[in-house]
Amino acid sequence: MHTVSDYQTYFLEYLSKKIITKEPKNLYEPISYILNLGGKRLRPILVLMASEAFGGSYKKSLDAALAIEVFHNFSLIHDDIMDAAPLRRGKETVHEKWGVSTGILSGDAMLINAYQLFENYESETFRELATLFTKTAIEVCEGQQYDIDFETRDDVVISEYIKMIEYKTAVLVGAAMKMGAIIANASESCREAIYDFGRLLGLAFQLQDDYLDAFGDPDTFGKQVGGDIIENKKTILYLKALEFANEGEKKQLTGLFSLNPENPSEKINTVKHLFETTGAKEQTRIEIEKYTEKAFAVLDKLSVTEDKKEVLRLFGKKLMNRSV
Ligand code: IPE
Ligand code: IPE
Ligand code: MG
Ligand code: MG
Ligand code: MG
Repeated sequence: MHTVSDYQTYFLEYLSKKIITKEPKNLYEPISYILNLGGKRLRPILVLMASEAFGGSYKKSLDAALAIEVFHNFSLIHDDIMDAAPLRRGKETVHEKWGVSTGILSGDAMLINAYQLFENYESETFRELATLFTKTAIEVCEGQQYDIDFETRDDVVISEYIKMIEYKTAVLVGAAMKMGAIIANASESCREAIYDFGRLLGLAFQLQDDYLDAFGDPDTFGKQVGGDIIENKKTILYLKALEFANEGEKKQLTGLFSLNPENPSEKINTVKHLFETTGAKEQTRIEIEKYTEKAFAVLDKLSVTEDKKEVLRLFGKKLMNRSV
């Protein structure tokens, strides 16, 4: 296996060869824009890593890695429209720059492009990758719809929230790793185990995303800090705060989450304060650790050599402590 930074380099080289802007410019420019904005490249790195963990070569996995990253970036363009987000990776979102219609259509083209990339595999592998991809993509849509539905609900419970983030975020991380395993011709039980590892890591990852949305550093986070509070998102912070709040705090929090003020800075400050005083901030850190440990427990049982597990474990640890 190579190092994580090697995999990132291999992926970025491949990506830069594949991004081309053709006519009509207004369709393809936003695609190059979002794909060149950077980002952690977590999912494609996991495709390459998984394929080598099971004895394959990363080179065969580059198209699947690209498909996953293109799909992820498509989902971000549409997600930013749905979440009314002004910033992505420290820059203007696609719909802010080109308008909502362009965001919708460029996103659609990316979804189709992602699927097309699987056509580069021979028929049996293509079938397996495409089946996994379509199942995952439809689950992401379901997760996104729950996320939106929860904005206007005041009775969301933690188990519903976990299902929502599993669908909107975690299944794609699991699928990325399983694709690597499929391309490396790993056994069915290894495919399932690595999917589960990725899914659990993906849950920890989304919990951390919720945490950073409120408590990230505005200078490095790259997204609007407090965006979830503005949108009344039922995040882990919110649900844990309600769980531990006294009657007065509960009333205050639910009251604030039924408002959409013109100037949200006071709402953001008060809600963040409540996240701290109720212990929700601390509880969220505990949940992140819990899901990361669950992921590692699955990894322990995986039948690959210890040095490979260590690379995957280190990557998981880094994700848990990230600030972006
Ligand atoms: C953002 O994903 C969307 C979530 C599922 C939380 P990332 O945090 O992986 O975004 P980039 O690609 O690194 O910008
Ligand atoms: C994103 O969830 C999930 C998908 C894009 C499918 P968020 O809405 O929390 O992601 P960010 O915080 O905008 O990156
Ligand atoms: Mg969003
Ligand atoms: Mg969203
Ligand atoms: Mg978020």
